[in-house]
Amino acid sequence: MDFARQFYVSFVESWSNTNMRLSAPTLSATTTAAALAAIGGQVVLAAGSEAGILAPNYIIASNSNVTEVTLSITTQDKSKWNATAPNLYGLMFEDIDHSGDGGIYAELIANRAFSGGAITGNDNPIEPYQSTLDRWVPIGDTQIALDLYHPLSDALPNSMAMTFPANATGRVGVLNTGFWGMDVSPQTYTGSFWINAVNQTYPPNNTTDITVDLRSNLTSDIWVNTTISNYHIGTFRYSQVNFTLENNVTAPNANNTFAITFDASQVAGQTFYLSLTSLFPETFKGRPNGLRKDLAEAFYDLKPGFLRCPGGNNIEGNSIAQRWKWYETIGPLENRPGRIGTWGYWNTDGLGLMEYLDWCEDMEMIPLLAVYDGYSLDHTSYPLEFMDEVLDEILAELEFCLGDTSTKWGAKRAEYGHPEPYNITYVEIGNEDMFSCTYTYRLNYLYPALKKAYPNIRFIQTQYNENAGGGYADCGEGITVPIRDGGGWDAHHYETPSFYLDTFNYWDNFEAENNFTDIEIVLGEYSVFQLDTSTGYVNYSDPPEIHPAYPELISAIGEGIYMLSAERNPSLVTLMSYAPSLQNLNLYVWTPNMIVFQAQHNLTVLTASYWQQHLFANFRGTHTVPVEGELNPLYWVGVVDESSGAFYLKIVNTGNQTVPLTLNFDSGYYSVNGTTLQSEDPNVYNSVDNLHAIEPRMLTGSELPQPGNLPSNATTPVTMVSSSAAMTGSASAAPTMGSISVSDTIMGGNVTATMSSSGSGSAAATKRSIVDSIRFESERFKRWSNDTNTWSWTVPVFSSTVLQFNP
Ligand code: AHR
Repeated sequence: MDFARQFYVSFVESWSNTNMRLSAPTLSATTTAAALAAIGGQVVLAAGSEAGILAPNYIIASNSNVTEVTLSITTQDKSKWNATAPNLYGLMFEDIDHSGDGGIYAELIANRAFSGGAITGNDNPIEPYQSTLDRWVPIGDTQIALDLYHPLSDALPNSMAMTFPANATGRVGVLNTGFWGMDVSPQTYTGSFWINAVNQTYPPNNTTDITVDLRSNLTSDIWVNTTISNYHIGTFRYSQVNFTLENNVTAPNANNTFAITFDASQVAGQTFYLSLTSLFPETFKGRPNGLRKDLAEAFYDLKPGFLRCPGGNNIEGNSIAQRWKWYETIGPLENRPGRIGTWGYWNTDGLGLMEYLDWCEDMEMIPLLAVYDGYSLDHTSYPLEFMDEVLDEILAELEFCLGDTSTKWGAKRAEYGHPEPYNITYVEIGNEDMFSCTYTYRLNYLYPALKKAYPNIRFIQTQYNENAGGGYADCGEGITVPIRDGGGWDAHHYETPSFYLDTFNYWDNFEAENNFTDIEIVLGEYSVFQLDTSTGYVNYSDPPEIHPAYPELISAIGEGIYMLSAERNPSLVTLMSYAPSLQNLNLYVWTPNMIVFQAQHNLTVLTASYWQQHLFANFRGTHTVPVEGELNPLYWVGVVDESSGAFYLKIVNTGNQTVPLTLNFDSGYYSVNGTTLQSEDPNVYNSVDNLHAIEPRMLTGSELPQPGNLPSNATTPVTMVSSSAAMTGSASAAPTMGSISVSDTIMGGNVTATMSSSGSGSAAATKRSIVDSIRFESERFKRWSNDTNTWSWTVPVFSSTVLQFNP
């Protein structure tokens, strides 16, 4: 079998006549120069450059003559502290690029209910989302056909008829090729399928042996199998066959399939109907119907604060009829019809509303739940007189999530296994409604009613002052939808690295300048979408050399600056998430993505952008502090951790020059460690051909900041750190501390301590214990002085670094 890859460009070409947003040839930019001005930035063009790509492909730091930078850092004045936003770094998830089905949703069976397959344009261009047997292959003498006469349920009307001719011999049955293969490793696999034998020739009291296995697609190897012996296949209704596969083998590659087979001697001449086949490996935190472990763990390592879901465009649907309907994504899988996803393939909705909320619980993060707000991607909007339908749908969804079990939908949630309400504090009304001209009336209809019903939820709107309708509809001058106090705005930016540099200060005075009080900004989708061009535009049809397939170091650096600009404004910018987050390398429509994967787990690419997220998210701190100095080419934020006293300097060098840096603190730090994402080559990237080209690494030795030089006769007071040792003597009467004296000591010299003790007992042992303690402290003081709180460092080129100063 050929696990062919389909690439972004060919997909766009094959869909260029559709209304899908990203393939519309006339849509050249999310952010044009005009729109950029609207959000307060400046497009900086390289002097004299022609339209096209800049060479070399990195941010041209406009201040390249900087010979050194000095930062003044005030960590001790608590009146200048600002609490960091606790959930700032989160995850954006929608089913795009097979991120859900065939991605983090751990189901291994592709096209499990014959609802629809990959929409490649090759299947059936006239009816591309038709029911299909895609991914199913007959074994031996078996004949297979799509069957519409024997539905499993209203939601899943299709089945596969497996016919075993009367002269069939050997093993017969079917296999599923999965989402371009299946990773096989030692663990317990859990599966099921529904089967029926509506067949007059099949004895009603039949018994049949059914074997299931995981097997190689390249060799005759069967990695694991089990037989369900003497199974009675119903001749009236479907029954569900459940099984587990205890596997001890690691397959050499992911070119494996799952098979259901029979002995032809038992079934020749029969037809069986198969529906809804499912096979799960062990999942993240053991959730049934849960998440692919390795991908979930990669997310979890980012310490995410929130999950924005389920879209993105995917919530809007390609039409109102094909919107994401929350009520069709809950309950038993056989009751979930699935839908035509926005991004070119069938969505099973196995990863549904409850799975998203359980995912949040399992990763200890909060949901930012997006609700459908009456606009779909064929540019249809609910008219005002029908908006009550939209409101009812949202209110029912929120009752399902939050209502107690006496409510209709709260009871349903309990029935499906979660009696406790979920914790929802943020709800987003729609997605990117700047693409419609109707948001004003739709938001005005929905917002007050929702706020009244749920006053403690912060409702986030999706349009503020961008050019409404800029992509598709003619809204004249455009529409500005004011942000409501107590609400928020989700702004999206797929940009060049320079955009983030140029808008670094954008949020600094945003509330005051615009007379907002108590609003929050969500940056629910952002990433470096393409490299810098002299036009300053992001163009969705730019070629791959401008539009990288994988995030590069320079992408991570641009995103790092955006993260810093948010961290500087922690009471305003409270949530931000890179997008898109996951890409199946076998079928995708959008690049770049944060994590690129395929069926084989050890080929997952954690990209440069992933590591940028990892770097900053792992050093959160509790409060930002003032760090004064000249910006550009360096950008930074300073954060303290109140409990440990550590200070984190997150600092990005956007340029190709090293920068000598002096750090002047208002207090002393004993030691420093550092982690950096850095290379001389700004275009370096991780890919499936080189998984580890760029990763964060610890700084060592002289790579680290060095403490300022101490005068040779510098003295430091030495304080007794503990007197508890005086109480530890093992004597009939415990010795007590008499006195201890130390004098100021020359830095680097020995501390002299004398102690007298009283009481009877083992005073000598006690005394030694105290002296040891003092010696230890004197070592620490070698690097510390109230007078020299200065550290110096050379900031490497193209680097994003966290320095951790320890008190
Ligand atoms: O992340 C891909 C898409 O970009 C999202 O679905 C949409 O919100 C944005 O246009």
